Amino acid sequence: MAKERTIFVCQNCGYKAPKWLGRCPDCGMWNSFVEERAETGQQDKGRRRHPLDRPQRIDTVAIDREARHKTGMSEFDRTLGGGIVPGSLVLVGGDPGIGKSTLILQIVHRLAQQGLRTLYVSGEESVQQIKMRAQRISADSSELYLLSGTCLEDIIERLDELTPRVIVIDSIQAIYTESLGSAPGSIGQVREVTSKLMSLAKSSGRAIFLIGHVTKDGAIAGPKVLEHLVDTVLYFEGDGSHMYRILRAVKNRYGPTNEIGVFEMMDNGLEEVGNPSKVFLEERSTDVSGSIVISCIGGSRPLLVEIQALVCTSSLAIPRRTTIGVDPNRVSLLAAVLTKRGGVNLSDKDIFINVAGGIKIDEPAIDLGVISIIASSLLNKPIARNTVAFGEVGLSGEVRGVSQTELRLKEAVKLGFSRSLISKKSIKTLKGKIDMEVIGVSSIQELLEVLL
Ligand code: TYD
Ligand code: MG
Repeated sequence: MAKERTIFVCQNCGYKAPKWLGRCPDCGMWNSFVEERAETGQQDKGRRRHPLDRPQRIDTVAIDREARHKTGMSEFDRTLGGGIVPGSLVLVGGDPGIGKSTLILQIVHRLAQQGLRTLYVSGEESVQQIKMRAQRISADSSELYLLSGTCLEDIIERLDELTPRVIVIDSIQAIYTESLGSAPGSIGQVREVTSKLMSLAKSSGRAIFLIGHVTKDGAIAGPKVLEHLVDTVLYFEGDGSHMYRILRAVKNRYGPTNEIGVFEMMDNGLEEVGNPSKVFLEERSTDVSGSIVISCIGGSRPLLVEIQALVCTSSLAIPRRTTIGVDPNRVSLLAAVLTKRGGVNLSDKDIFINVAGGIKIDEPAIDLGVISIIASSLLNKPIARNTVAFGEVGLSGEVRGVSQTELRLKEAVKLGFSRSLISKKSIKTLKGKIDMEVIGVSSIQELLEVLL
């Protein structure tokens, strides 16, 4: 019998080599090669299971508007861009224990309640264990089927008898395909399983949810390597100690990206948070320096969040710029602008910035707020509680407008804010009447004058 051939595969990028290498020539990663059985090469070659359709004229292609499956959980539907698209492959990533399995089980339960046949495949838990979780969220619909298994080929076989419309695979790291010899969770396996599921979704019109753990070490391939293979990528985030969980769409072929849905983890599963701005602002402290509310855009809707700063004298040679929820580089940059253009000395000050509620913000509209709270904390002067601010700040200290000014202001009015700080230019773009005092600033010097 011929000796079984093995190859070495980089677990970071998938590069293959006949011999072990210390450093991957492709991605430069050290010590990332793992020995795997070489593919036998016979299975799928030469077999054409899905012959192509004829090319079709674009004006003759019909789309069914009602095609999306609505789950009835509006935070989830909106994050996906209006419901689940049949035939789509959706990856749900997140830290272990954040609530991915709970969320998706609740989703398939709701679909099953509408009479849609759904199958929940778990490679990590037994059917009894899934049932225990399902009891907590009272999921007991007759159209919801459970299956425990790890071999993809076996799972696909079961699909033919059951013909479910929506399938969940929990998790991608636990499932393996027989056509590869490597261990479940290795980069080769997760890629191969995902691409097989992708073709299954496309050819059968079934929607598939893939759950993937984000891992810190490279031993188990995380969802990052799958992002380009799937239609939609959702990340379920949130601090384990916070009750709030945020579902964020980072890639979506069928809807807007950066859309977020907010949930709260309860005893009986996840509950939607319909008005996130309100809950993010609920626990605001009164009249302390270094706090302001900013109006940012999460996908298609405005979101008000409180940001806080603490500026204090540093005992280090290089003062700290520590942030939670915003990019620390951006804060360093804004601190430098404030020093140079606003004449505020921060060279011996530590700066800590926090976004309340465990949410992450990465739009430049936060700049004006960050500058305001740094100045406020440094001088220990509170900013009026009814103030909301947003705008981008450039390196020469100029304040620039951001998109959707009107939408952001209207959300602030709705939540009872009566004063706003925005860029002077943005005021001109306002068409409708805004029921609040709108202060325009064109530079950070002007901002400091208004604030202090
Ligand atoms: P889980 O969905 O198992 O996380 P993941 O699949 O992302 O690893 O959720 C685990 C956590 O959620 C666990 O700490 C228990 C908690 N939980 C609740 O607080 N309430 C509930 O109703 C359920 C089902 C779980
Ligand atoms: Mg799980």
